[in-house]
Amino acid sequence: MHSIVDNISPPFQSEIPRFPIDIDYKTITEVVNQYNSGAGDERLKFVISRLVQHLHDFAREVSLTSEEWMEGIRFLTWVGQISSDIRQEFILLSDVMGLSTLVDSMNNVKPDNATQATVLGPFFTDDARQVEVGDSIVSDRNMQVGDPMFVTGRILDTDGRPIPKARIETWETDPTGHYDNQYPDRKEPDCRGRLFSAADGSYSYRAIRPVAYPIPSDGPVGMLLKKLGRHVYRPAHLHMMIEAEGYETLVTALYPEGDEYLYSDAVFGVKSKLVCSLKTITDEERVRDLGFKKGPVQLLEWDFVLVTKEQAKREREKVVQYLSSKPSS
Ligand SMILES: [Fe+2]
Repeated sequence: MHSIVDNISPPFQSEIPRFPIDIDYKTITEVVNQYNSGAGDERLKFVISRLVQHLHDFAREVSLTSEEWMEGIRFLTWVGQISSDIRQEFILLSDVMGLSTLVDSMNNVKPDNATQATVLGPFFTDDARQVEVGDSIVSDRNMQVGDPMFVTGRILDTDGRPIPKARIETWETDPTGHYDNQYPDRKEPDCRGRLFSAADGSYSYRAIRPVAYPIPSDGPVGMLLKKLGRHVYRPAHLHMMIEAEGYETLVTALYPEGDEYLYSDAVFGVKSKLVCSLKTITDEERVRDLGFKKGPVQLLEWDFVLVTKEQAKREREKVVQYLSSKPSS
């Protein structure tokens, strides 16, 4: 049987450090980093030392009061308490503060001739039904209410060559602006599907036109946005995640043009190169050929261009080089 003492690592048993005391607002940062300097993991030591530095500088810069500190603690406690298996309020907080887009844009830079990446968001699930070419990812119930949309195109490499057998995960809102996993009584996936590109790189499926939606706003993040005078909407978009052997996984989304929230996305996900135009198909025979019972049908044609893992590595190295050449502020 192990005692608690057995789990304490040796330095604290064999040699207890003597760090400075009588610490104040000028000396605390240096002392905390001395406490953490024994970390065996160099990356952890570096990240924590910078976090401590910026956190303390923040408190000093704004002259954080004890009441404001407590308010911040209460806020973060609420963020944790409202999170669950189906709700991730911390990701939402990271999203609305721009941290998710910052991290994504450092780690997923694409060359100009490739499809740009954007944030995954909190609504992906890995249980989507597999659909065959031209099949629907939407239940009949939602298809009847929503605007039918046919999505088609190819998966290509940066030289324009088709990528067969690419695994495509796609998900979108239902006609009311909710993802299926926002319903507590969700029984099966809806408005999401998994498909594979054909030998010529092509793919196609039936969907509905996605709609703009509010991010969950009945918790701390919604309260914060309200206090900041911000709205809680994301423009309509269709999520796509594409994986293929030898290629960097692409996490992206397409944003139909004309949405009133395109230029004030609550989570900063929109990129102009991901804004798409839809064509309207009214010809009844064409509508039926595409597998729909009624029109008009919106046609979304889009080729996705993937980068190889080697290309992705080179792009990341460029970012690291750029960041290391800039003095930190
Ligand atoms: Fe979304």
